[in-house]
Amino acid sequence: MSRVLTRLAKTSPADIWKFLSDPGMIPVLVSSPPSSSPIDAVSRLFPDAPREQLAALRLQFLMDHDFFRAVDQNMVPRRHRRAVWRDWYEFLYMLVRVLKPGVFVETGVFDGQSSSVILRAMEENGRGKLISIDLPATDAIAGSTHRMLESTLPPGCNPGWVVPEYLRGRYDLRFGDARVLLPEAFKSFPEVDVFFHDSLHTYDHMYFEYTCAWPHVTPGGLVISDDIFWSRAFHQFCRENNRPYVRVGGFGGMRK
Ligand SMILES: C[S@@+](CC[C@H](N)C(=O)[O-])C[C@H]1O[C@@H](n2cnc3c(N)ncnc32)[C@H](O)[C@@H]1O
Repeated sequence: MSRVLTRLAKTSPADIWKFLSDPGMIPVLVSSPPSSSPIDAVSRLFPDAPREQLAALRLQFLMDHDFFRAVDQNMVPRRHRRAVWRDWYEFLYMLVRVLKPGVFVETGVFDGQSSSVILRAMEENGRGKLISIDLPATDAIAGSTHRMLESTLPPGCNPGWVVPEYLRGRYDLRFGDARVLLPEAFKSFPEVDVFFHDSLHTYDHMYFEYTCAWPHVTPGGLVISDDIFWSRAFHQFCRENNRPYVRVGGFGGMRK
């Protein structure tokens, strides 16, 4: 009981409401690992990576003013605000820099901030291809974009519209439902180093994506996911495959 209370004390009011309205999530809350800083989370997944190297990578990302300016040059005229970068984008950048993936599959693009970060890290690595799948949010999508700062794409914009032009050489962008396009992507790329879910966060869809991707992820590769507290799917999937996971807030990661 005291463990539940301790975890509740560290949980946001929105997440507490989610747990109370779906009691099936309470075991998830109790057994999930504590949130880590981006550097600690990468370090847990890659124990051989020196911490000084991770600190230097993080700094390199945070100090990449040209990159942030290039994204904002696209963002500001349409959204009338700058891009908002949460902690997990640092985690994402460091993961790509440390693993140096050849093939990375992402579901859920929206404006294209995560795609931009992945492509920027790949450019720095000098290798990698990003296959990104998105069902364009011309209207708000329940279970996906409805809680976002803006719930639809700007009029006339395709998913990925903020990705700077200089990063698009490694980008293979596909529009449609991941239910259909994800299995198709794995036909063209049967082995991938990273699978990243950030599309539709219903239990059925999340569980479908993780299990669809799993046989195609190379040993030592990554399955990462945003919004892991929107359903129990990520926790259940990690448990079924006997893999511990780390998290930066609601963003989880595990290694195959
Ligand atoms: C949370 S946003 C992605 C944000 C992006 N990863 C980032 O951090 O910059 C979710 C995206 O998933 C898309 N989406 C929703 N349902 C989908 C589905 N069934 N298949 C593919 N994409 C979907 C939405 O249109 C939206 O663009």
